[in-house]
Formats: sequence, structure tokens, C-alpha cells
Amino acid sequence: MKRLVRHQERKRRDRSGCMTLALIACGGFLIFWTFVSVLLMRVVHDNAAKLEHSRIALSERLQLRAKQKKKKQGAVGVIVKKASKIAVQPLMTTPLEYTFGHAVRTDQKPSYLFGLPADVAADHQYRYQSNGIFWDVNYDPLYESYYEYVIESAETQSQDFQLPSDVQLFHQNFTQQLQQVGIQVGNLIVPDPVRQYQKRISERLRQANLDTLADIFNNSYALTLEQTTFPLSDGTTFVATGDTVLMGLRDSSAQVDPYMPLLSQSHYLLRLVEGLLRRQSLFLQADPYSASFRLFLDHDFTGRQRLTDSDYKYGRTIHVAKHNFELDNLAYHLRLSYKLFQFYQQHNRPMLALDSNWIHGVDLILQTVVREQNHAESLYRYPELKDDGEGQPVCQGDGLVWTGFRPSGDPTEFGYLIPVNQMMVVSLRQTAEIFRSIKDDIRAQQCEDLADSIDRGIHTHGVVQHDEFGKIYAYEVDACGGANLMDDANVPSLLSLQYMEYFSPQHDPDQSIQKKTRKFILSESNPYFHSGKGPDGCTNEWIGSSHTPQSSIPYLAVIVRAMTAESDAELRQAVNTLARTATNNLMEDGFKALSKSLLAELITTKLEDIFRVYRNETLNSC
Ligand SMILES: *[C@@H]1O[C@H](CO)[C@@H](O)[C@H](O)[C@H]1NC(C)=O
Ligand SMILES: *[C@@H]1O[C@H](CO)[C@@H](O)[C@H](O)[C@H]1NC(C)=O
Ligand SMILES: *[C@@H]1O[C@H](CO)[C@@H](O)[C@H](O)[C@H]1NC(C)=O
Repeated sequence: MKRLVRHQERKRRDRSGCMTLALIACGGFLIFWTFVSVLLMRVVHDNAAKLEHSRIALSERLQLRAKQKKKKQGAVGVIVKKASKIAVQPLMTTPLEYTFGHAVRTDQKPSYLFGLPADVAADHQYRYQSNGIFWDVNYDPLYESYYEYVIESAETQSQDFQLPSDVQLFHQNFTQQLQQVGIQVGNLIVPDPVRQYQKRISERLRQANLDTLADIFNNSYALTLEQTTFPLSDGTTFVATGDTVLMGLRDSSAQVDPYMPLLSQSHYLLRLVEGLLRRQSLFLQADPYSASFRLFLDHDFTGRQRLTDSDYKYGRTIHVAKHNFELDNLAYHLRLSYKLFQFYQQHNRPMLALDSNWIHGVDLILQTVVREQNHAESLYRYPELKDDGEGQPVCQGDGLVWTGFRPSGDPTEFGYLIPVNQMMVVSLRQTAEIFRSIKDDIRAQQCEDLADSIDRGIHTHGVVQHDEFGKIYAYEVDACGGANLMDDANVPSLLSLQYMEYFSPQHDPDQSIQKKTRKFILSESNPYFHSGKGPDGCTNEWIGSSHTPQSSIPYLAVIVRAMTAESDAELRQAVNTLARTATNNLMEDGFKALSKSLLAELITTKLEDIFRVYRNETLNSC
């Protein structure tokens, strides 16, 4: 009996010993897991923004898919398979490597869509690659939605316009080239809302006896759509500049600007603009330094078969037509992104074009901007620039971003171009807003910090004390004390600061620097400011450029002057000058669609002001 009790007691003791051991083990296990979870949470937190965004992107894609599924019954298995494939995609970032400033995709098998000419040296072959320039048609559901809305709808409707025969021939050649490598080019239709708007505004101008303006508007508003826009079956839109068949980020962004107010009225138009942003993202990834791109080498059908030694020297590839670095191109891509973002927000639409690929492009922009804040360490070279292609030496700009070329295409004299830096500040702040809204706080902060540092640089080195005008912004500086006090006709310019919505509450709270700068550039103290009487005895005032003859009036600056006019008299004078020069310049065949788009934008944004100014007067009365 006693033995039994003792046995039971020992058993109990054993059991409690067992329990203690188990408890210790449990505790250890718990501590271990807490540790692991903390670690995991850190990793997850770091990736949270990324994950959140890809989740949003995925759900949008799936929504879209569901809609399409309703339309096209069947093939569900395939769709699910495709969707799950897409789900992984946003997290796989393609490593990019820089060789002398252009990014080369390194993780793909080389694809030579347009063929690799014989005898191309191995280290030059990458220049012929088309990797990443066209979307993988089979695995992007967005492509199908684009195809449906843009390409198919255009095929079932007939064009309501006749192209000039040379343009028509060019379109045929362009379409053929791409068809050979499996890319379809859709017909273009001008959506009804665009036609209605064109008609309404032209008629109103005519009623107000502003016939010249009516003609200009009627002539230019739909032109980018009719002649220079190419919807491609990879879900992107190619928009050529018009005077050339190349596409740049600046021009293409500005060219679709006048259509932005109509996006909510036309799904077709929305898809076109989204397609443009996506094409820009792809091109950007080929070379963030490029000023213009082409889809294939023989872009002007002169029979060009291969890149020459000179092309190599100038950094041109099959898709990079110009490798001269104009910083404003990067800002314009962000500007278009923000305009689309605003549309999405206002109309509560899924942000289809702001996907992982867009983020990828923006990352490259940020990298490029940071690199060129320290140009001494950049590998970018261009033969047309001084000092072995590095450009005239600059000192550390304390945040200022270096650029090789002005928006006009002329090389910069001093590498820090102030108005372009100012535009970059605006665009980076706007991009931060986009990232905040998709809960990518890391990138948002990065954009804000970058904007702050550029703005600090502008006010450390870019403000000059002028004897007559006081503190004003310089056009260019080198941060070693050299400065160019002037303004140039192209946009962005010092004249366009207000149009670019630049404002520095921190460094110029009452905008006195900005106001004095405007006074300076519109005075004889600006070497490119001209004024003179036209043949009709009216006075014209304009800002020229180092590369334009003094007698010709570049209307870009006149358009911007009208957009930023501070009085009715100033608006009237600028519009009069436009109307007077319009017949010679704007109606010309070798047009640059950018000017026409900017003019259309002026007319639509300032319409009521224009009517007020001309209520009792006629155009050209001076
Ligand atoms: C189109 O191609 C043909 C031959 O390929 C060429 O002769 C013609 O000049 C091209 N047209 C245009 C407008 O590029
Ligand atoms: C616009 O141009 C078209 C074709 O050139 C013409 O038929 C139409 O009457 C014009 N409309 C206005 C309002 O000027
Ligand atoms: C136009 O004329 C009317 C009456 O003649 C006048 O009241 C108005 O102020 C004038 N408007 C402008 C902009 O000059």
C-alpha cells in the first residue's frame, strides 16, 4: 500500500517534472517564435508599400478580368492561370545595369525583333536588342482591355478624316514594319467628345469674330490624334512629335494635355493616354537619358539597316534615337503621371496605368536625378558636350540636378538649368502624392526629400542679385559663381514657372523672386527679349533663342506669355502676336505638334479671358 502511494507520488513527481520541462520547452518555443515573428514583421513592413501596391494592382487587374470574363464566356482556366502568373510579376524587378548612362536589361535572353545584322561586334549587339520595349502580349490582361477598347473599336468604325497622302504613306510603312514583328497598329478614330469639343470651341471663336483663332484651333486640336498617335497591340501608344517620327517624353506628354479634360467622356481616349504612359515607362527603362525614341531603326524609311560607328559614339541604339540628356523629359513623364492620377482620383477609377512597371520607370528617374546631383561621378558622356563629353565643369550644386541640354536641344552653357530644376521640384512633389495614396511611404518620402534638396540648391546657387531688378532666378548656373541671366523660348522656361505651378513657400513665400524674374525676362536686360513693329504697325514682343534668327518669332514663348499674362493688355498683345505669326508658322506642313497642342491648351484654358479682352475690339487692332 505504502509502496503504491510512494509509486503514485513518484509518478506524480515525474509528471510534474515532465510538465516543467514541457513548460520550459513551450516558453523557449514561444520566445523563438516571437523572435521570428518580429524579424518577419520587419521584412513585411519594409515590403509593405510594395505589397500593398501590387495587391491593388492585382485586384484592379482581376476586376478588369472579371468584366472581360462576363463578355467573353469560357476559357476560365486559362484566365486564372494568366492571372496567377501576373500576381507574381509586380514583385519581380528586373535588374538594370548601366553602361555609359543607358540601362541595359540583363536578365533576359537577347531578343532581336528586327533582326541582328551580320558582323556586329559582340559588345555592340545589345544595341540591337528589343528586350522590354514591347510588352509580352500573351501575359498581360491589360493588353486585352486595351486591344478591345482601342484597336478593335477603331477597326469597326471608319475614320472621319482624310490624311494627307504623304502622311498616309508613312502610316502604311510604319504599320507594315511593326506587323512584320507581330505588333499590330490600330486605326485611329477621333472620339466623338473630341470632335464635339473642337466644333464647339471653334464656333464660339467664330461668333466672337476671332476667325484666325477659330481656324488655328479647328486645325490643331485633333491633330495629334489624327496624325501622330499610334495605338499598338502591346497595350501602349506611340505618339510621334510630328516634325519627326520619333517620340520624346516631353512632347508626347504635352501633346495629349489638351485631351485630359475629356478623359471621363471617352473610354477610348483614356486607354490611349494610359497606353502612352505605359509606352513612356518602357522607353524610359531603355535609357533614362534619352531625348527621343523610335520603335525600329529605319524610322524615317531611308533604308537604314544598321547602326554606324557614329551611332555608337553618340549612344544611339535601335530604340534610342537621341541620347542627349534633357532633364525636363523626366519631369514631363511625372507630370503626365500626375494628370492621370488626378483623373483617377476625381472619377474614382482603378489606377491601371500606375502599375509596377510605372514604379520601375519612376525608380529609374529617381536614380538618375540623384546621380546627376553629383555629375562628377556620373558616367554620362555625350560627344557634343565640352570636356570630352562631360560638359563644362560645374561645382557641387547642393541639390541642383545637372542637365546636358536645354529643352530647345542646345547644349547648356552652365550645367544647372534653373527652370528645369524648378519643374522637377513640382513633379517630384506630385509624385510623392501619388505614392502616399498607394501607401508607398518609403518612395513618397524619397520624392519629397529629393524635391526639398533640389529647391534648397536652387535658392543656394540659382538666385542672383541684379543691379536693377534685385534678387532674380538665373537661367543657368554652374554653382562656382557663373550664371546666365536670360530666358529661352522653349518650355520649361523662367517665363513658364507659373504655368508649371512652381512655388517655393519655404524660400520665396511672397513670390517676390518669381515676380522680379518675370519683370527681368520681359525687359531689354534679357538678351533674347525682342520687341518690334510688325508690317501692320502693331508692336510684337517675344523671347527668342540663341539658335533662332532675331527676326523670326518663336511662338512657344508667346503662347506661354499669354498663358501667364498678368493683365488684359498683356494677354491681348500676346494673342495678337500669335494671330499675326500664325499664318506663316503654325499652319505650316512641317509642324511640331507640341506647339499646336500648347496653343490649343491656351485657347481652352483662357477662353473666357480671350472673349472678355476682345469683346469690343477685333483681333489685330492695336
Ligand atoms: C514608304 O516606303 C517606300 C518603299 O519602302 C518608300 O519609297 C517611301 O518613300 C516610304 N514613304 C514614306 C512616306 O516614308
Ligand atoms: C473646321 O474644319 C473643318 C474641315 O477643315 C470644316 O469643315 C469646319 O467647318 C470647320 N469648323 C469650324 C467651326 O471652323
Ligand atoms: C465694352 O463696351 C461696353 C459698352 O460700350 C463697356 O461697358 C465695356 O466696359 C467695354 N468692355 C471692355 C472690355 O472694354
